[in-house]
Amino acid sequence: MGTLLVYGSYGYTGQLIVAEAIERGMTPVIAGRNVSKVETQANELGLEHRVFETTHADIVARQLESIDCVLNCAGPFEATYEPIVEACLETETDYLDITGEISVFEAIAEKDEPASAAGVTLLPGVGFDVVPSDCLGAHLAGALDDPTSLQLGFDSLGSPTTGTALSTLEGLAGGGMIREGGSLKSVDPAYNRRTIDFGEGDRAAVTIPWGDVSTAYRTTGIESIEFYMALPPAVIRALSLAGRLTPLLGYPPVQRTLESVIRRTISGPSEDELESGITRLWGRVTDGTTERVARLKAPNGYALTAKTAIECTKRTLEGDVPIGYQTPANAFGPEFVLSFDGVVRRDAMEPQSS
Ligand SMILES: NC(=O)c1ccc[n+]([C@@H]2O[C@H](COP(=O)([O-])OP(=O)(O)OC[C@H]3O[C@@H](n4cnc5c(N)ncnc54)[C@H](OP(=O)(O)O)[C@@H]3O)[C@@H](O)[C@H]2O)c1
Repeated sequence: MGTLLVYGSYGYTGQLIVAEAIERGMTPVIAGRNVSKVETQANELGLEHRVFETTHADIVARQLESIDCVLNCAGPFEATYEPIVEACLETETDYLDITGEISVFEAIAEKDEPASAAGVTLLPGVGFDVVPSDCLGAHLAGALDDPTSLQLGFDSLGSPTTGTALSTLEGLAGGGMIREGGSLKSVDPAYNRRTIDFGEGDRAAVTIPWGDVSTAYRTTGIESIEFYMALPPAVIRALSLAGRLTPLLGYPPVQRTLESVIRRTISGPSEDELESGITRLWGRVTDGTTERVARLKAPNGYALTAKTAIECTKRTLEGDVPIGYQTPANAFGPEFVLSFDGVVRRDAMEPQSS
């Protein structure tokens, strides 16, 4: 097998991913921008390490000598993906990441042609966002001859990490996003609401700008896509009001204050949550006349991310993934997610009311 470099290896999720890689018999090179954090982790785990910033593709390309595949875990990815992807194209290195950012998926999809020409695989979104929902969407799309509309959603990712909270803040500053008529459409946060039974009774849910608004379109070709998240009614009311505040979130002093609050107060799921947490996903597809619904029950989102990210990376290193831009379900098929412990799919192929 070739050599893997994990960038952002000492973040909360990076550490889970490196541990999973070692557990699976891999010896990744670990990397990040903070010398002491990378060195400490490398010494503890006995791994080769590299320290570099992602400010320019040239800097990154110099570090990719003898590397076959990069797994980028440093987010918000809007700040890191571009120089790494450019360096991967230049050095013919495969690229994977755990982004959930719509703008990042869209920009990487634009690199499909140069990636194919260079013989490089670009496979972003190999974490909880978007592996289970992408597979669920692909499964549902296959249930109807000519599906026209797809809704996906989840209930409870567990406690977020600092990185997830910062990426969410960045996403909220951009407002909401859905796909309509094949194009991305900016909407208010919590633009649409529905009551969804994720498998344990009805929950109130609202649209959020989740990665599938980009990826499910490329996986299924369905032109109308919304992504929902279950939230307590009080949070939904606050989010609806936040529509008016959205421009404020992009204002640098407000953003700096919120960032510092996030860094001080949010630290990610506990060991217990990681081990016993449950996530539920739901999907609905329709052709305008008939609808199909399916659900997934899965482990905690961060625990699943470590498993899916390393399985996708292993398969890429083994040469099992086509070159060019890929979504997880296009690369591995709709059943891929069912290969992970604790993931169960239930179909409700009869018409549903939700
Ligand atoms: N797809 C999914 O389902 C999924 C699952 C988990 C996490 N994520 C995403 O993955 C990212 C990391 O999450 P996390 O839980 O590991 O958060 P975290 O614990 O806050 O770690 C963030 C990591 O990214 C690095 N980083 C951030 N900005 C950087 C930059 N501009 N240049 C270089 N390194 C940078 C940090 O390094 P420093 O300490 O040096 O800043 C750190 O190593 C977030 O964007 C999160 O949303 C996605």
